[in-house]
Amino acid sequence: MHIAKALTIAGSDSGGGAGIQADLKTFAALGVYGSSVITAITAQNTQQVTGIHALPPPMVARQIEAVLTDIGSDAIKTGMLGNAEIIQAVAETLRGYSGIPLVVDPVMVAKSGASLLAPEAVKTLREQLIPLAKIVTPNIPEAEVLVGKHLQSEADFIWAARAIFDMGAKMVVLKGGHQPERKRTTPAQVVDLFYDGKEARSVEGPFIDTPHTHGTGCTFASAITAGLAKGLEPYLAVLKARQYLTGALQHAFPVGQGKSPVHHFHSWWPTE
Ligand SMILES: Nc1ncnc2c1ncn2[C@@H]1O[C@H](COP(=O)(O)OP(=O)(O)OP(=O)(O)O)[C@@H](O)[C@H]1O
Ligand SMILES: [Mg+2]
Repeated sequence: MHIAKALTIAGSDSGGGAGIQADLKTFAALGVYGSSVITAITAQNTQQVTGIHALPPPMVARQIEAVLTDIGSDAIKTGMLGNAEIIQAVAETLRGYSGIPLVVDPVMVAKSGASLLAPEAVKTLREQLIPLAKIVTPNIPEAEVLVGKHLQSEADFIWAARAIFDMGAKMVVLKGGHQPERKRTTPAQVVDLFYDGKEARSVEGPFIDTPHTHGTGCTFASAITAGLAKGLEPYLAVLKARQYLTGALQHAFPVGQGKSPVHHFHSWWPTE
């Protein structure tokens, strides 16, 4: 039996809802063997991030080599990278594995508001890592930082997706989770934009009205990575990731006092 493999390179969320923990749960839920490289440890719960400890860049590189020289991977994703030195180490190491599709989730700020990327690291992200990406998955605020412009209209979003494509990524998924307009459509929809250098396509899904949205971004990028690991075409991997995330949002249950995580195992755990 062939089991696809995926590697996540990201931060640890002690609360279990985002970061490495969300990524491994997503891989497991989607039938993919997951390995993990930790870039930083965050002391975090559903309410806030109370501490961040970034790992030494050589230790990050060593974890990647440890996984890829033995276990291997059919797809790789990056999440929280923390600082320019870690991005540099990750990019340098991954350049030796350019045949493995890479999903770059350009994590900058946690849902709770904490900064997860040093501002001076954005240039390194743009110049070193994005050119290696098969798919980059910014939310709108991250896209604004990457392109250095405030984005408001549909035309702005398409322009930004093109600008990020021009940085060297093969495809861009601009996530619409931060768009206020969705509240005005009936039924309410969340619209992401998929751009592959040729055409811009809308990826629509129902807006799920829930406070339990901790880790949506990590879960989405990991689900795309799982799809690529299984050999799906990128656009189909994105559509399937949206479907999985919709279910995970619909079935999220309260954990802690703040924004609870999505339910990664909604299709497997009993409902009552
Ligand atoms: N309430 C919602 N209902 C349906 N889909 C959603 C909702 N919120 C986000 N999404 C979808 O989830 C995916 C992740 O988007 P989002 O914009 O939340 O990412 P993010 O801001 O990076 O999240 P995070 O803060 O967890 O990093 C996108 O496909 C987005 O459209
Ligand atoms: Mg995110």
